[in-house]
Amino acid sequence: MPETDLAAEILRLKKERNAVILAHSYQRPEIQDIADFVGDSLALARAAQKTECDVIVFCGVHFMAETACILNPTRKVLLPDLNAACSLEASCPAEDLAAFLEANKEKNYYVVAYVNCSIGVKALADVIVTSGNSQRIIETAPTDRPILFVPDQNLGAWTARKTGREMTLWNGACHVHQQFTRDQVLQQKALHPEAEIVCHPECQEVIRLLADHICSTEKMIPYCRESKAPSFIIVTEAGILHRLRKLVPGKEFIPVGTEKCACAECEYMKLNTLEKLRNCLRDMAPEVTVPEELRLRAARPLERMLELSK
Ligand code: 13P
Ligand code: SF4
Repeated sequence: MPETDLAAEILRLKKERNAVILAHSYQRPEIQDIADFVGDSLALARAAQKTECDVIVFCGVHFMAETACILNPTRKVLLPDLNAACSLEASCPAEDLAAFLEANKEKNYYVVAYVNCSIGVKALADVIVTSGNSQRIIETAPTDRPILFVPDQNLGAWTARKTGREMTLWNGACHVHQQFTRDQVLQQKALHPEAEIVCHPECQEVIRLLADHICSTEKMIPYCRESKAPSFIIVTEAGILHRLRKLVPGKEFIPVGTEKCACAECEYMKLNTLEKLRNCLRDMAPEVTVPEELRLRAARPLERMLELSK
């Protein structure tokens, strides 16, 4: 079916189902273009919490749809492809975290979990953070308890440096951000000496040290708009380039290639397609659901985060 017909069917079904389509900035351009709302994890969590639509179609990965279920339990949450996982989430299984906390009980860790984690990990956390608010949230952490930051060691290390708070870091990472190398970034800089380097805090320290600015995907938009630079080397998943080109016209956005690809793509994020989006609105499946007991425990640290980042 041509893309325009698919898009028309999606819009018709969306109305019929009283659904809202939320999309992360790493989604395919055609999905971003049809979504009601495109944003980073923080903005999407807020949008999911507030929506009054009966159905939330989450064009993102599984933990994001799960977060929508936790924050807005009376809505039906659909994910176009249930296989849309996350390597960062997988790097911290809830059983491993529970065992670590049990073995280190005497430390009484204040557990800070990056939102890229399972509901089981969220339920063990004191507070959740996103890349857009980690500094602000850590600044409110109790000073009489040691901090354990899970699962992303890179976001944790960056936040620790920015806030001056010492933290024990879980040994987790995102495979997409982990693959950027110093040479790849420097190669682009040599080709575009006028460009500023903007990277996501999920990148490793060798990359963060090269960057002119480090921020979440959402904050890249105002940063690039307000900066005097004519071009930017963007070191994160390539989906954000579509948004940047749309929202900041007249400036150039340059991706950083990896060994596998001319730009870095998260294969999980790219599992969602227009066709699967149409199918899920048509079939009202696949649906993401969460056990109520776990939901209640995971809601507390998530709501704390939303409260603290108002
Ligand atoms: P943000 O969009 O919140 O910066 O997160 C990046 C990411 O990797 C999400 O999976
Ligand atoms: Fe997870 Fe990385 Fe993909 Fe984001 S880009 S969904 S952190 S694997």
